[in-house]
Amino acid sequence: MKYLIAILVVGLAFTGNAGAQSQAKTMHDTYCIMCHGTELYTRESRIARDYESLREQVARWQANAALNWSSTEIDIMTNWLAERYYGLSCPEQC
Ligand code: HEC
Repeated sequence: MKYLIAILVVGLAFTGNAGAQSQAKTMHDTYCIMCHGTELYTRESRIARDYESLREQVARWQANAALNWSSTEIDIMTNWLAERYYGLSCPEQC
């Protein structure tokens, strides 16, 4: 029984993660690529150097675009960018 619960928990965590990833991509496609593409995230002189500064940038740009994202949405976007483009490790798993 214990094993079954463990499998269920891992399964749910995995599904949640995949959901967050595709949510982040949709949010990014919808709100973020009107001004810049993803090349900004991999350029030599990029501003964000660690997870915290990346999160600040995400918070700043969603505010500039008047999106009013919750801190969970900011986390989802930061995790996605951190893993996919910045090669940064997240405080919690991306
Ligand atoms: C109104 C135009 C505009 C919108 C909308 C916008 N950005 Fe940006 N963003 C910029 C510009 C311009 C820069 C470069 C700023 C600089 O170089 O100082 C930037 C920089 C960034 C950076 C820092 C890149 C680096 O150098 O490390 C991140 C991260 C970022 N944007 C994420 C987002 C996200 C996420 C969204 C969607 C919520 C978004 N942006 C929406 C214009 C925009």
